[in-house]
Amino acid sequence: MVEFLRYGVIGTGMMGCEHIRNLKEIDGCAVVAYADTHEPSRNSAKRLVTQATGYIDYREMLASEKLDVVVIATPNHTHKSVFDDVIKLDVHVLVEKPLGINVAECQSMIDIDKRHRKSGRVVWVGLEYRYMAPTRHLIDEVESGTCGEAKMIAIREHRFPFLKKVDDWNRFSKNTGGTLVEKCCHFFDVMTIIAKSRPVKVYASGAQDVNHLDEIYDGVRSDILDNAYVVVDFASGVRGMLDLSMFAEGSKNEQEICVVGSKAKIEAMMPESIVRIGGRENGRNGVVEISVSQSSEVVPGFHGGASYLEHLAMQNAIRLGLEASVTLEDGLLSVAVGQAAQLSIAENRIVAIDQILG
Ligand SMILES: NC(=O)c1ccc[n+]([C@@H]2O[C@H](COP(=O)([O-])OP(=O)(O)OC[C@H]3O[C@@H](n4cnc5c(N)ncnc54)[C@H](O)[C@@H]3O)[C@@H](O)[C@H]2O)c1
Repeated sequence: MVEFLRYGVIGTGMMGCEHIRNLKEIDGCAVVAYADTHEPSRNSAKRLVTQATGYIDYREMLASEKLDVVVIATPNHTHKSVFDDVIKLDVHVLVEKPLGINVAECQSMIDIDKRHRKSGRVVWVGLEYRYMAPTRHLIDEVESGTCGEAKMIAIREHRFPFLKKVDDWNRFSKNTGGTLVEKCCHFFDVMTIIAKSRPVKVYASGAQDVNHLDEIYDGVRSDILDNAYVVVDFASGVRGMLDLSMFAEGSKNEQEICVVGSKAKIEAMMPESIVRIGGRENGRNGVVEISVSQSSEVVPGFHGGASYLEHLAMQNAIRLGLEASVTLEDGLLSVAVGQAAQLSIAENRIVAIDQILG
């Protein structure tokens, strides 16, 4: 049983620092080192963990520090190369979502993990939206049969535009994998969990209609989608739909998940933290509204407590010698649906997931 976990964090921008803040609140672990090529990001980490050692080159950190867990929170297009270095070591790994910017990268990461497989090693992908309290509650209700057989899963994300990032990496699809990979892998993961089936076919319509249209970097205009509808067919016949708008600041909820089954409809709303359940027999008057919040010990952070719970779950797996709950294969599948949706928009056609997975 590992008593104390020593963490190294690679990439200490917005999300790396979010991990550090969460880890500081958990007993039995400490961030002892961090690495970032960008001085202001290193300074942000330094303010949070004054005793930890900062590095410019993560390879130097990996060579110099005795670490138990490494968190990779660098831009999407760097995940694979950083992962390839980290996975060769005897450490547990949390790699941020999306696992890679496309299926080929994810498959190669799975292969290198297999080649360097170590017994008891936990490799976890940061698909943490499953840990948001209303989402978790909805998944539990579906699993316990409340809605009968789930048939339709609609997820709406209506939010603000992408934030500014270090060196503006998120303004270009070549760095992110495209909005439907970068942002929406979270939702394709949640959809797949609810459907309990494999996604097989994707049709999408989307564009860059409003945001970043006049942003030019080194002479090249930003090319990221800001709205889309994505329809996903699952092998079981379950249908999913994602409705994404990134110019919808005027929304009460940033995320709404709605599952309709043979017996009832279940909805989860974030950040209102409400779950509504309505059976078919009693109609509108029978709808029950449940207020769902994380317990008071959970650190809310940027994602409604999801990052904190993700770390607790990962540490539990490490200490008890369990498999990761969010696997590299989950990371691959969520990227595959996003990539299929991007391709569907680019080529105006239905895309089979098998074609994407090769
Ligand atoms: N789980 C979530 O909900 C969630 C939320 C936001 C971001 N993310 C993911 O986290 C990752 C980081 O996103 P962010 O928002 O923190 O971006 P960011 O730009 O704020 O931070 C990225 C940091 O990585 C550093 N970096 C780049 N290359 C590096 C290298 N080779 N070695 C060390 N440091 C390097 C940059 O200097 C920067 O400080 C992305 O993959 C993103 O998709 C996940």
